[in-house]
Amino acid sequence: MTKKEMGISSKCVHAGIDNYEFGPVVPPIYQTSTFKFESAEHGAKLFAGKEAGYIYTRMLNPTIEAMENAVAALEGGYKALGCGSGMAAINTALTALLSAGDHVVCSKAVYGPTSTLLNTVLNRFNIETTFVNASDIKQVQEAMKPNTKVVYIETPGNPTLEIADLEEVSKIAHKGGAKVVVDNTFMSPILQRPIELGVDVVVHSMTKFLNGHADVVAGIIIVKDDESYLSMRKVLNQLGGVIDPFNSFLVHRGLKTLALRMERHSESAMKVAEFLENHPKVDWVRFPGLKSHPQYEIGIKQHSAPGGMISFELKGGYEAGEKLMNSVELCALAVSLGGVETLIQHPASMTHASMGKEARESASITDGLVRLSVGIEDVDDIIKDIEDALKTV
Ligand SMILES: Cc1ncc(COP(=O)(O)O)c(C=O)c1O
Repeated sequence: MTKKEMGISSKCVHAGIDNYEFGPVVPPIYQTSTFKFESAEHGAKLFAGKEAGYIYTRMLNPTIEAMENAVAALEGGYKALGCGSGMAAINTALTALLSAGDHVVCSKAVYGPTSTLLNTVLNRFNIETTFVNASDIKQVQEAMKPNTKVVYIETPGNPTLEIADLEEVSKIAHKGGAKVVVDNTFMSPILQRPIELGVDVVVHSMTKFLNGHADVVAGIIIVKDDESYLSMRKVLNQLGGVIDPFNSFLVHRGLKTLALRMERHSESAMKVAEFLENHPKVDWVRFPGLKSHPQYEIGIKQHSAPGGMISFELKGGYEAGEKLMNSVELCALAVSLGGVETLIQHPASMTHASMGKEARESASITDGLVRLSVGIEDVDDIIKDIEDALKTV
Protein backbone atom coordinates (compact mmCIF):
# COMPACT_ATOMS: atom_id res chain seq x y z
CA MET A 1 0.00 0.00 0.00
CA THR A 2 1.35 3.44 -0.88
CA LYS A 3 1.12 6.22 1.66
CA LYS A 4 -1.28 8.02 -0.73
CA GLU A 5 -3.75 5.12 -0.50
CA MET A 6 -3.79 5.06 3.32
CA GLY A 7 -6.78 6.14 5.40
CA ILE A 8 -6.52 9.38 7.35
CA SER A 9 -5.65 7.74 10.71
CA SER A 10 -2.85 5.73 9.07
CA LYS A 11 -1.58 8.89 7.38
CA CYS A 12 -1.45 10.61 10.79
CA VAL A 13 0.93 7.89 11.97
CA HIS A 14 3.00 7.32 8.83
CA ALA A 15 2.93 10.47 6.64
CA GLY A 16 6.21 12.33 6.30
CA ILE A 17 8.23 9.45 7.77
CA ASP A 18 11.11 8.37 5.54
CA ASN A 19 13.91 5.86 5.76
CA TYR A 20 16.54 7.47 7.96
CA GLU A 21 20.10 6.37 8.65
CA PHE A 22 20.19 3.84 11.59
CA GLY A 23 16.46 3.09 11.10
CA PRO A 24 14.71 5.32 13.68
CA VAL A 25 10.91 5.14 13.42
CA VAL A 26 10.56 8.85 14.13
CA PRO A 27 12.42 11.60 12.23
CA PRO A 28 15.67 12.67 13.91
CA ILE A 29 15.88 16.30 15.10
CA TYR A 30 18.39 18.07 12.89
CA GLN A 31 19.05 20.83 15.43
CA THR A 32 21.42 22.73 13.17
CA SER A 33 21.21 26.18 11.63
CA THR A 34 23.38 25.32 8.63
CA PHE A 35 24.63 22.38 6.50
CA LYS A 36 28.18 21.64 5.25
CA PHE A 37 28.69 21.54 1.48
CA GLU A 38 30.83 18.76 0.03
CA SER A 39 32.72 21.32 -2.06
CA ALA A 40 32.45 24.89 -3.35
CA GLU A 41 30.94 23.46 -6.52
CA HIS A 42 28.33 21.53 -4.50
CA GLY A 43 27.36 24.69 -2.58
CA ALA A 44 27.00 26.65 -5.81
CA LYS A 45 24.80 23.91 -7.31
CA LEU A 46 22.52 23.89 -4.26
CA PHE A 47 22.15 27.68 -4.36
CA ALA A 48 21.43 27.59 -8.09
CA GLY A 49 18.74 24.95 -7.53
CA LYS A 50 20.58 22.50 -9.80
CA GLU A 51 20.80 19.90 -7.05
CA ALA A 52 18.42 19.09 -4.19
CA GLY A 53 19.77 19.41 -0.63
CA TYR A 54 19.88 21.49 2.48
CA ILE A 55 21.68 24.81 2.77
CA TYR A 56 20.45 26.76 5.80
CA THR A 57 17.57 26.04 8.18
CA ARG A 58 15.63 29.22 7.35
CA MET A 59 15.50 27.88 3.78
CA LEU A 60 14.78 24.19 4.55
CA ASN A 61 15.67 21.57 7.16
CA PRO A 62 14.98 17.79 7.07
CA THR A 63 13.06 17.73 10.41
CA ILE A 64 10.89 20.62 9.27
CA GLU A 65 10.40 19.07 5.84
CA ALA A 66 9.26 15.75 7.34
CA MET A 67 6.53 17.53 9.34
CA GLU A 68 5.58 19.67 6.31
CA ASN A 69 5.18 16.55 4.16
CA ALA A 70 2.98 14.95 6.81
CA VAL A 71 0.61 17.94 7.01
CA ALA A 72 0.53 18.30 3.19
CA ALA A 73 -0.47 14.61 2.92
CA LEU A 74 -3.23 15.01 5.52
CA GLU A 75 -4.65 18.08 3.78
CA GLY A 76 -4.43 16.46 0.35
CA GLY A 77 -2.10 19.24 -0.80
CA TYR A 78 1.08 19.26 -2.88
CA LYS A 79 3.52 20.66 -0.32
CA ALA A 80 3.50 22.68 2.89
CA LEU A 81 5.58 25.42 4.48
CA GLY A 82 6.14 25.38 8.24
CA CYS A 83 5.97 28.79 9.92
CA GLY A 84 6.84 30.15 13.36
CA SER A 85 3.18 30.82 14.26
CA GLY A 86 -0.28 30.77 12.74
CA MET A 87 -0.04 34.53 12.20
CA ALA A 88 3.32 34.09 10.41
CA ALA A 89 1.61 31.59 8.09
CA ILE A 90 -1.34 33.94 7.43
CA ASN A 91 0.92 36.95 6.87
CA THR A 92 3.26 35.00 4.56
CA ALA A 93 0.40 33.59 2.49
CA LEU A 94 -1.28 36.99 2.10
CA THR A 95 1.99 38.79 1.33
CA ALA A 96 2.83 36.19 -1.31
CA LEU A 97 -0.56 36.51 -3.01
CA LEU A 98 -1.19 40.27 -2.81
CA SER A 99 0.28 43.47 -4.26
CA ALA A 100 -0.49 47.14 -3.76
CA GLY A 101 -3.84 47.99 -5.32
CA ASP A 102 -5.36 44.55 -4.71
CA HIS A 103 -8.60 43.85 -2.90
CA VAL A 104 -9.45 41.09 -0.39
CA VAL A 105 -12.83 39.65 0.54
CA CYS A 106 -12.59 38.31 4.09
CA SER A 107 -15.08 36.63 6.39
CA LYS A 108 -16.04 38.84 9.36
CA ALA A 109 -15.73 35.97 11.83
CA VAL A 110 -11.96 35.52 11.75
CA TYR A 111 -9.34 35.33 14.46
CA GLY A 112 -9.01 38.94 15.76
CA PRO A 113 -5.36 39.53 14.70
CA THR A 114 -6.15 38.33 11.15
CA SER A 115 -8.69 41.11 10.71
CA THR A 116 -6.29 43.52 12.46
CA LEU A 117 -3.49 42.48 10.05
CA LEU A 118 -5.70 43.31 7.07
CA ASN A 119 -7.09 46.53 8.58
CA THR A 120 -4.02 48.07 10.16
CA VAL A 121 -0.96 46.59 8.40
CA LEU A 122 -1.79 45.46 4.86
CA ASN A 123 -4.05 48.52 4.34
CA ARG A 124 -0.90 50.68 4.70
CA PHE A 125 0.37 48.97 1.54
CA ASN A 126 -2.79 49.95 -0.35
CA ILE A 127 -4.50 46.58 0.04
CA GLU A 128 -8.20 47.07 0.73
CA THR A 129 -10.46 44.52 2.46
CA THR A 130 -14.22 44.05 2.43
CA PHE A 131 -15.49 42.00 5.38
CA VAL A 132 -18.55 39.84 4.76
CA ASN A 133 -20.67 37.27 6.51
CA ALA A 134 -19.28 34.39 4.47
CA SER A 135 -22.07 32.04 5.53
CA ASP A 136 -24.26 34.18 3.26
CA ILE A 137 -22.89 33.35 -0.19
CA LYS A 138 -24.64 36.40 -1.72
CA GLN A 139 -22.47 38.69 0.41
CA VAL A 140 -19.31 37.02 -0.95
CA GLN A 141 -20.57 37.44 -4.53
CA GLU A 142 -21.53 41.08 -4.02
CA ALA A 143 -18.19 41.99 -2.41
CA MET A 144 -16.12 40.74 -5.38
CA LYS A 145 -14.40 43.52 -7.37
CA PRO A 146 -12.31 43.39 -10.56
CA ASN A 147 -9.15 43.71 -8.41
CA THR A 148 -10.12 41.03 -5.84
CA LYS A 149 -7.14 38.68 -5.64
CA VAL A 150 -7.88 36.78 -2.44
CA VAL A 151 -11.03 35.49 -0.75
CA TYR A 152 -9.98 34.68 2.80
CA ILE A 153 -12.27 32.43 4.84
CA GLU A 154 -12.15 30.99 8.32
CA THR A 155 -14.76 28.27 8.72
CA PRO A 156 -16.18 27.56 11.22
CA GLY A 157 -15.45 31.21 12.02
CA ASN A 158 -13.80 32.33 15.20
CA PRO A 159 -15.54 32.66 17.64
CA THR A 160 -19.12 32.63 16.31
CA LEU A 161 -18.69 29.28 14.51
CA GLU A 162 -20.59 30.41 11.44
CA ILE A 163 -19.96 28.05 8.54
CA ALA A 164 -19.12 29.06 4.96
CA ASP A 165 -19.80 26.70 2.04
CA LEU A 166 -16.26 26.27 0.66
CA GLU A 167 -17.35 24.75 -2.66
CA GLU A 168 -19.63 27.71 -3.37
CA VAL A 169 -17.08 30.29 -2.19
CA SER A 170 -14.39 28.70 -4.40
CA LYS A 171 -16.64 28.81 -7.49
CA ILE A 172 -17.38 32.52 -6.97
CA ALA A 173 -13.75 33.44 -6.24
CA HIS A 174 -12.35 31.51 -9.21
CA LYS A 175 -14.91 33.04 -11.56
CA GLY A 176 -13.62 36.44 -10.46
CA GLY A 177 -9.96 35.41 -10.88
CA ALA A 178 -9.22 35.30 -7.13
CA LYS A 179 -7.57 32.62 -5.01
CA VAL A 180 -9.26 31.19 -1.93
CA VAL A 181 -7.28 30.98 1.30
CA VAL A 182 -8.87 29.04 4.18
CA ASP A 183 -7.88 28.99 7.83
CA ASN A 184 -8.62 25.36 8.76
CA THR A 185 -7.41 25.64 12.36
CA PHE A 186 -10.78 24.87 13.99
CA MET A 187 -11.45 21.60 12.13
CA SER A 188 -8.02 20.20 11.17
CA PRO A 189 -7.67 18.03 8.04
CA ILE A 190 -9.30 15.16 9.91
CA LEU A 191 -12.71 16.86 9.87
CA GLN A 192 -12.50 19.24 6.89
CA ARG A 193 -10.24 19.17 3.80
CA PRO A 194 -10.67 22.50 1.97
CA ILE A 195 -8.43 21.58 -1.01
CA GLU A 196 -10.84 18.76 -1.91
CA LEU A 197 -13.59 21.41 -2.01
CA GLY A 198 -11.74 23.67 -4.48
CA VAL A 199 -9.75 25.90 -2.13
CA ASP A 200 -6.25 27.00 -3.28
CA VAL A 201 -4.32 27.59 -0.07
CA VAL A 202 -4.89 26.30 3.48
CA VAL A 203 -3.36 27.86 6.59
CA HIS A 204 -3.29 26.62 10.16
CA SER A 205 -2.30 27.73 13.54
CA MET A 206 -0.57 24.45 14.44
CA THR A 207 -0.43 25.83 17.97
CA LYS A 208 -3.94 24.36 18.20
CA PHE A 209 -5.28 20.93 17.18
CA LEU A 210 -2.39 19.83 14.90
CA ASN A 211 0.13 19.91 17.72
CA GLY A 212 -2.61 19.44 20.30
CA HIS A 213 -0.60 19.67 23.51
CA ALA A 214 -0.41 23.42 24.21
CA ASP A 215 3.39 23.39 24.22
CA VAL A 216 4.25 24.83 20.79
CA VAL A 217 3.48 28.02 18.84
CA ALA A 218 3.60 27.23 15.11
CA GLY A 219 1.79 27.63 11.79
CA ILE A 220 1.72 26.12 8.33
CA ILE A 221 0.67 26.92 4.74
CA ILE A 222 -0.47 24.11 2.41
CA VAL A 223 -0.46 24.69 -1.36
CA LYS A 224 -1.70 22.74 -4.39
CA ASP A 225 1.06 23.10 -6.97
CA ASP A 226 4.76 23.68 -7.51
CA GLU A 227 4.38 27.24 -8.76
CA SER A 228 2.56 28.36 -5.60
CA TYR A 229 5.01 26.40 -3.45
CA LEU A 230 8.07 28.06 -4.97
CA SER A 231 6.62 31.56 -4.76
CA MET A 232 5.47 31.06 -1.14
CA ARG A 233 8.85 29.54 -0.19
CA LYS A 234 10.60 32.60 -1.63
CA VAL A 235 8.42 34.99 0.39
CA LEU A 236 8.75 32.90 3.58
CA ASN A 237 12.51 32.86 3.12
CA GLN A 238 12.59 36.66 2.79
CA LEU A 239 10.08 37.41 5.59
CA GLY A 240 11.84 34.85 7.76
CA GLY A 241 8.89 33.63 9.84
CA VAL A 242 9.99 29.98 9.79
CA ILE A 243 9.41 27.21 12.33
CA ASP A 244 12.42 25.65 14.09
CA PRO A 245 13.41 21.95 14.01
CA PHE A 246 12.47 21.15 17.61
CA ASN A 247 8.96 22.60 17.34
CA SER A 248 8.56 20.74 14.03
CA PHE A 249 9.47 17.52 15.79
CA LEU A 250 6.89 18.19 18.52
CA VAL A 251 4.14 19.00 16.00
CA HIS A 252 4.99 15.87 13.99
CA ARG A 253 4.66 13.82 17.18
CA GLY A 254 1.31 15.49 17.90
CA LEU A 255 0.03 14.60 14.43
CA LYS A 256 0.23 10.90 15.20
CA THR A 257 -2.75 11.14 17.57
CA LEU A 258 -4.63 13.83 15.63
CA ALA A 259 -7.37 11.52 14.27
CA LEU A 260 -7.95 9.98 17.70
CA ARG A 261 -8.02 13.34 19.40
CA MET A 262 -10.42 14.92 16.89
CA GLU A 263 -12.82 12.02 17.33
CA ARG A 264 -12.80 12.47 21.11
CA HIS A 265 -12.99 16.31 20.94
CA SER A 266 -16.04 16.02 18.66
CA GLU A 267 -17.83 13.35 20.72
CA SER A 268 -17.33 15.21 24.00
CA ALA A 269 -18.15 18.64 22.56
CA MET A 270 -21.45 17.23 21.23
CA LYS A 271 -22.41 16.14 24.77
CA VAL A 272 -21.27 19.44 26.32
CA ALA A 273 -23.19 21.44 23.66
CA GLU A 274 -26.37 19.43 24.31
CA PHE A 275 -25.97 19.97 28.05
CA LEU A 276 -25.52 23.73 27.56
CA GLU A 277 -28.45 23.99 25.16
CA ASN A 278 -30.76 22.46 27.74
CA HIS A 279 -29.49 24.57 30.65
CA PRO A 280 -31.92 27.29 31.87
CA LYS A 281 -29.13 29.85 32.39
CA VAL A 282 -27.86 29.57 28.80
CA ASP A 283 -29.41 31.89 26.23
CA TRP A 284 -28.11 30.15 23.10
CA VAL A 285 -25.35 27.78 21.95
CA ARG A 286 -23.46 27.66 18.64
CA PHE A 287 -21.98 24.29 17.76
CA PRO A 288 -21.79 22.76 14.26
CA GLY A 289 -23.28 19.48 15.55
CA LEU A 290 -26.50 21.06 16.91
CA LYS A 291 -29.52 21.21 14.63
CA SER A 292 -30.07 24.76 15.94
CA HIS A 293 -26.85 25.90 14.17
CA PRO A 294 -27.96 28.21 11.31
CA GLN A 295 -25.66 26.41 8.82
CA TYR A 296 -26.13 22.90 10.23
CA GLU A 297 -26.75 21.44 6.73
CA ILE A 298 -23.53 22.90 5.29
CA GLY A 299 -21.64 21.52 8.28
CA ILE A 300 -23.06 18.04 7.69
CA LYS A 301 -21.87 18.19 4.06
CA GLN A 302 -18.48 19.74 4.78
CA HIS A 303 -17.29 18.16 8.05
CA SER A 304 -16.86 14.51 8.99
CA ALA A 305 -17.60 15.42 12.65
CA PRO A 306 -18.51 18.68 14.42
CA GLY A 307 -15.16 19.47 16.10
CA GLY A 308 -14.32 20.58 19.63
CA MET A 309 -15.25 24.27 19.64
CA ILE A 310 -18.43 25.67 21.25
CA SER A 311 -19.60 29.26 21.67
CA PHE A 312 -22.45 30.21 23.94
CA GLU A 313 -24.16 33.19 25.47
CA LEU A 314 -25.38 33.17 29.04
CA LYS A 315 -28.56 34.88 30.15
CA GLY A 316 -27.09 37.79 32.09
CA GLY A 317 -24.48 38.66 29.44
CA TYR A 318 -20.94 39.64 30.25
CA GLU A 319 -21.26 39.64 34.06
CA ALA A 320 -22.68 36.12 34.04
CA GLY A 321 -19.91 34.97 31.68
CA GLU A 322 -17.28 36.53 33.94
CA LYS A 323 -18.73 34.69 36.98
CA LEU A 324 -18.72 31.40 35.08
CA MET A 325 -15.12 31.81 33.95
CA ASN A 326 -14.02 32.66 37.49
CA SER A 327 -15.81 29.61 38.93
CA VAL A 328 -14.63 26.74 36.73
CA GLU A 329 -11.95 24.46 38.17
CA LEU A 330 -11.21 21.71 35.64
CA CYS A 331 -11.62 24.02 32.63
CA ALA A 332 -8.65 26.38 32.41
CA LEU A 333 -9.35 30.08 31.89
CA ALA A 334 -6.97 30.64 29.01
CA VAL A 335 -6.91 31.71 25.37
CA SER A 336 -5.85 29.32 22.60
CA LEU A 337 -7.67 26.11 21.78
CA GLY A 338 -7.29 22.62 20.40
CA GLY A 339 -5.20 21.16 23.21
CA VAL A 340 -5.96 18.07 25.27
CA GLU A 341 -7.16 20.28 28.13
CA THR A 342 -10.51 22.10 28.14
CA LEU A 343 -10.07 25.88 27.87
CA ILE A 344 -12.64 28.62 28.41
CA GLN A 345 -12.27 32.27 27.38
CA HIS A 346 -14.08 35.53 26.67
CA PRO A 347 -13.47 36.70 23.04
CA ALA A 348 -14.60 40.34 23.50
CA SER A 349 -11.95 41.07 26.15
CA MET A 350 -9.34 38.54 25.00
CA THR A 351 -8.80 37.00 21.50
CA HIS A 352 -10.95 39.56 19.67
CA ALA A 353 -10.21 42.66 21.79
CA SER A 354 -7.84 44.05 19.11
CA MET A 355 -10.70 44.26 16.55
CA GLY A 356 -12.52 47.04 18.42
CA LYS A 357 -16.17 47.03 19.56
CA GLU A 358 -17.67 48.17 16.25
CA ALA A 359 -16.02 45.40 14.20
CA ARG A 360 -16.93 42.86 16.89
CA GLU A 361 -20.57 43.90 16.88
CA SER A 362 -20.68 43.70 13.11
CA ALA A 363 -19.25 40.14 13.34
CA SER A 364 -21.88 39.19 16.03
CA ILE A 365 -19.19 38.83 18.70
CA THR A 366 -21.34 39.93 21.62
CA ASP A 367 -19.91 41.03 24.97
CA GLY A 368 -21.51 38.01 26.66
CA LEU A 369 -20.10 35.37 24.30
CA VAL A 370 -18.06 32.62 25.94
CA ARG A 371 -15.83 30.26 23.90
CA LEU A 372 -15.07 26.76 25.00
CA SER A 373 -12.42 24.44 23.56
CA VAL A 374 -13.49 20.98 24.74
CA GLY A 375 -10.54 18.78 25.72
CA ILE A 376 -10.15 15.03 26.03
CA GLU A 377 -10.80 14.70 29.77
CA ASP A 378 -13.73 12.51 30.92
CA VAL A 379 -16.71 14.32 29.46
CA ASP A 380 -18.72 13.83 32.67
CA ASP A 381 -16.02 15.76 34.53
CA ILE A 382 -16.14 18.61 32.01
CA ILE A 383 -19.94 18.82 32.27
CA LYS A 384 -19.90 18.61 36.08
CA ASP A 385 -17.34 21.42 36.25
CA ILE A 386 -19.48 23.69 34.05
CA GLU A 387 -22.67 22.65 35.87
CA ASP A 388 -21.15 23.54 39.26
CA ALA A 389 -19.77 26.84 37.92
CA LEU A 390 -23.18 27.73 36.45
CA LYS A 391 -24.68 27.48 39.97
CA THR A 392 -22.69 30.60 40.92
CA VAL A 393 -24.11 32.59 37.98
C1 LIG B 1 -8.35 30.32 13.90
C2 LIG B 1 -7.02 30.89 14.26
N1 LIG B 1 -6.18 31.24 13.27
C3 LIG B 1 -4.95 31.74 13.53
C4 LIG B 1 -4.52 31.93 14.82
C5 LIG B 1 -3.15 32.49 15.07
O1 LIG B 1 -2.28 31.48 15.44
P1 LIG B 1 -0.95 31.68 16.31
O2 LIG B 1 -1.38 32.11 17.67
O3 LIG B 1 -0.29 30.35 16.25
O4 LIG B 1 -0.15 32.76 15.63
C6 LIG B 1 -5.35 31.56 15.88
C7 LIG B 1 -4.90 31.73 17.28
O5 LIG B 1 -5.66 31.63 18.22
C8 LIG B 1 -6.64 31.03 15.59
O6 LIG B 1 -7.49 30.67 16.57
